[in-house]
Amino acid sequence: MAAQGCAPRRLLQLLQLLLLGAGAAGAQWRGEGTSRNLESIFLGRCAEYSSLLLSPAEREKNCTAIWEAFKVVLDKDPCSVLPSDYDLFINLSRHALPRDKSLFWENNHLLVTSFAENGHRLMPLCDVLYGRVGDFLSWCGQKNGSGLDYESCPSSEDCENNPVDSYWKRASIQYSMDSSGVIYVMLNGSEPKGAYPVKGFFADFEIPYLQKDKITRIEIWVMHEIQGPKVESCGEGTVKILEERLEAMGFQYSCVNDYLPVKLLMCVDHSTHPDCALNSAAASTLAPSSS
Ligand SMILES: *[C@@H]1O[C@H](CO)[C@@H](O)[C@H](O)[C@H]1NC(C)=O
Ligand SMILES: *[C@@H]1O[C@H](CO)[C@@H](O)[C@H](O)[C@H]1NC(C)=O
Ligand SMILES: *[C@@H]1O[C@H](CO)[C@@H](O)[C@H](O)[C@H]1NC(C)=O
Ligand SMILES: *[C@@H]1O[C@H](CO)[C@@H](O)[C@H](O)[C@H]1NC(C)=O
Repeated sequence: MAAQGCAPRRLLQLLQLLLLGAGAAGAQWRGEGTSRNLESIFLGRCAEYSSLLLSPAEREKNCTAIWEAFKVVLDKDPCSVLPSDYDLFINLSRHALPRDKSLFWENNHLLVTSFAENGHRLMPLCDVLYGRVGDFLSWCGQKNGSGLDYESCPSSEDCENNPVDSYWKRASIQYSMDSSGVIYVMLNGSEPKGAYPVKGFFADFEIPYLQKDKITRIEIWVMHEIQGPKVESCGEGTVKILEERLEAMGFQYSCVNDYLPVKLLMCVDHSTHPDCALNSAAASTLAPSSS
């Protein structure tokens, strides 16, 4: 699962499993049910995004029209929603992405949202209008076509063509096609299953759609938890598979372990850990003058 906005899908699925155990037994599907207040959240996010974050030239987004284009999938069988069902939604909500600001990622959602700073520092998919409106949300219609299903929605284990996965596929493809300049990729080197999922949104719906002529280079950051295990680093395991894939595709790429600006942000929560001590040069510039 990749740059589905910033949504922690795996976490949601885990919660869902726990909730199932805790009483939602009998739910039809394995995924989270439609989010309460879906339409209000969607419209509110859209209005906020288009008035505060879009450049003046792009501010004329019609959020009502965007919602109407989106909600056609709610009238469909929840296992028959294709990525192309979101074409009009994407067409209406799409906007230019700033050069050198795209951030792709896997298994790092909290770091990505805090580092990206609402699109001001970098702009991951969840900080693009069409990714923002669905971030952290779930939605699907009832199988018999009468209204929304608030109990459960199909996950990828139930069926491939479910409303939420098809949305993130379509949004990921657009995001990749519109990305340009330097591309950043944040991976989690403490993830036991490997930093780069060889099947996932990044691998399957983003990398193949990168436009080589618009991209100058790709920079991979492998972040390790401050007190966590170093499962993989640059040049190792699945990271190596990713590097070889990018190389074979003809991209210029580099890989950095524990990219310092992101590590400093992680250190906010571990300020007394030895790995977070400022180095002596930095420490001496911070210390009062001693001579
Ligand atoms: C926005 O879209 C809605 C639905 O398509 C339409 O009724 C309305 O006139 C549009 N508003 C503007 C300002 O274009
Ligand atoms: C939306 O679709 C129309 C008609 O196909 C096209 O002219 C327009 O460029 C598209 N807009 C975006 C932002 O993709
Ligand atoms: C990285 O992966 C580990 C292991 O799954 C997880 O505990 C940690 O929260 C992840 N880090 C981030 C920033 O998501
Ligand atoms: C559709 O299914 C839901 C539960 O799955 C049920 O409550 C509802 O009455 C059904 N509606 C129709 C029109 O069959």
